[in-house]
Amino acid sequence: MRTRTHRCGELRKQHVGQSVTVCGWVDVKRDRGGVVFILLRDVSGKVQLTFSDERDRALVEQTRDARHEYVVSATGKVALRDDANRTDKLTTGEVEIIVEHFEVLNTAVTPAIEVRDDLKCDPELRLKHRFIDLRRRPMQAMLQARAALIAAARRVLDAESFIEIETPILYKRTPEGARDFIVPSRAHQGQFYALPQSPQLFKQLCMIAGLDRYYQIARCFRDEDKRADRQPEFTQIDIEMSFPTRDDVMELFEKVVVGIFEGLQSDPRLRDQDWPVLKAGKLQTPFERMDYETAMRDYSIDRPDLRSRELRLTDLSGWAKGCSFNAFKGAAEKGGLVKGLRCPGMAEAFSTGQLKNLERDAKGMGATGLANLKVTAAGLEGGIAKFIPEAEQKAMIAAFNAQPGDLLLICAHEKEKIVHAVMHNMRIMVADKLGLNDPNTMAIAWVINFPLFEYREEDQKLFASHHPFTLPQDVAGVANMARASRAGNAGSPMARMLDGGVKLDDILALRNNQYDLVCNGVEIAGGSIRMHRTDWQADVFELIGITKEEAEKKFGFLMSALAHGAPPHGGIASGVDRLLMLLLGLDNIADVIAFPKSATGRDLMIDTPNEVEPALLKELAIETRPPVK
Ligand code: AMO
Repeated sequence: MRTRTHRCGELRKQHVGQSVTVCGWVDVKRDRGGVVFILLRDVSGKVQLTFSDERDRALVEQTRDARHEYVVSATGKVALRDDANRTDKLTTGEVEIIVEHFEVLNTAVTPAIEVRDDLKCDPELRLKHRFIDLRRRPMQAMLQARAALIAAARRVLDAESFIEIETPILYKRTPEGARDFIVPSRAHQGQFYALPQSPQLFKQLCMIAGLDRYYQIARCFRDEDKRADRQPEFTQIDIEMSFPTRDDVMELFEKVVVGIFEGLQSDPRLRDQDWPVLKAGKLQTPFERMDYETAMRDYSIDRPDLRSRELRLTDLSGWAKGCSFNAFKGAAEKGGLVKGLRCPGMAEAFSTGQLKNLERDAKGMGATGLANLKVTAAGLEGGIAKFIPEAEQKAMIAAFNAQPGDLLLICAHEKEKIVHAVMHNMRIMVADKLGLNDPNTMAIAWVINFPLFEYREEDQKLFASHHPFTLPQDVAGVANMARASRAGNAGSPMARMLDGGVKLDDILALRNNQYDLVCNGVEIAGGSIRMHRTDWQADVFELIGITKEEAEKKFGFLMSALAHGAPPHGGIASGVDRLLMLLLGLDNIADVIAFPKSATGRDLMIDTPNEVEPALLKELAIETRPPVK
């Protein structure tokens, strides 16, 4: 094989007259009777190889063997294409290589999927033949962007004196919200490692070790229900720093995001792409900050899509308490929520059938119904309007600040969660219909002042909204509640606190030091200031029902480390995959990962998970049973 001198996509006018050797895959071959053209492809682009009978008949004969996806090498002189053949569809479109030496380096069977940019086929087929799928330009460009993103993050963090530290993959179960993947130990039969859901505790230990500023491009593993923006195995840019304020971490991470945008925008390999990040221009910092309360009030979600920021929800609970329509009144009186969305000028935007479908969707989310009302100059019209007297109609229209021609969608339920889920979904659907969800707009904002705890009624238990290592804003308040819980002697921590005079509303009013970064309705990063004192950490464990013994068993190492002079510290982690998905305007996370898992969590190419040999299981002292259906 001759030594390659250039990559295919590099050749330009300035190379004319030079003798070059290129290698790659046969993309297209055209035989024009006496003249053969091969479009040769490699990772940098495509270049035209030209052969003619006139110049070298034997060479033309040799091309007869070269078929689609064959691997070949060609040596020849770069020449200017004639006017008729020049094209601006290729970066090399002004030139061609007049081939003098040609070699087939390998043959190829016909691939199961086509190597073409605009391939449309079953996503599972693409995953099964991923090594072919990755030959396509959009996939290679995506991987180049991914590398550029990580390189840019590293540049910023290196410049800010962060050091990259690898933490273990064979880890231990810790509560981070998802199910763990576990790995059996042969040396310690009956015992298991867990794969890290994130390097959370190790990065805190790095701070306690005095390393001051840590980062890692970290693999994380979470066994969660599938969603388009989730993978069981994903990558975080994971950061932790010592002695920071909340603002310090947020400002640092803004620099990382700006660096990532600039890194992608200035990468010459990516110029041919049509991605939102390349159209976004320079990012303005500081990013907007929004309170959790405001996000929930206006958008019913803690990761609002602010491309449609004007499309705000209206809380009608106060109005509903005094209204004549029983479904609304009942929900409000039971302490529930009544919320509505004003759809501007959309009174006629949905057919009766479509409105029925919306209601069906709402019911699918647990709602009892979804009311729709049209606003006219005379008042409200539609299904339930007849149950609402004129004065109440007026008050409702005023609450919405609605105009004739608007459509109002309203959901009421005693469970706030259901109303939030329904109204968030309706808002996104309406924004879409109004053309407000433009993927080229990047609406970035921080969400802060989250509740410290979430109360799950069904379990009568508190859960940390972020993770249980997040510093409460009111440590003294938490200490008092923990004292009440410890003083009681019966039931759950919740029951003991209530017995001790603590009010559920006061617990739910507690706020934490978390910050989430949201872009177009997707959470692209999240972090917090941590607890660096054992007593504070023990108080939070107490409230979420982790007993002293349990804390010792699960987190003894953390408690011991905190007791050895832990500095105040905090950090953040960003989902590389989710961030990239947004920057490239894609809506499936699998499209930004080289070798992702399928919707059911399988690697379809290497065919895993799979059974292992009985002898291996024996060594691990594991017996398997037939699968539980
Ligand atoms: P958190 O759990 O919020 O925080 O995760 C941080 C970011 O990781 C991304 N992410 C995911 N991406 C793809 N697939 C998934 N299954 C998935 N789950 C999460 C999101 C999210 O914002 N240790 C803390 C961070 C900290 O406190 O410093 C943590 O992991 O973009």
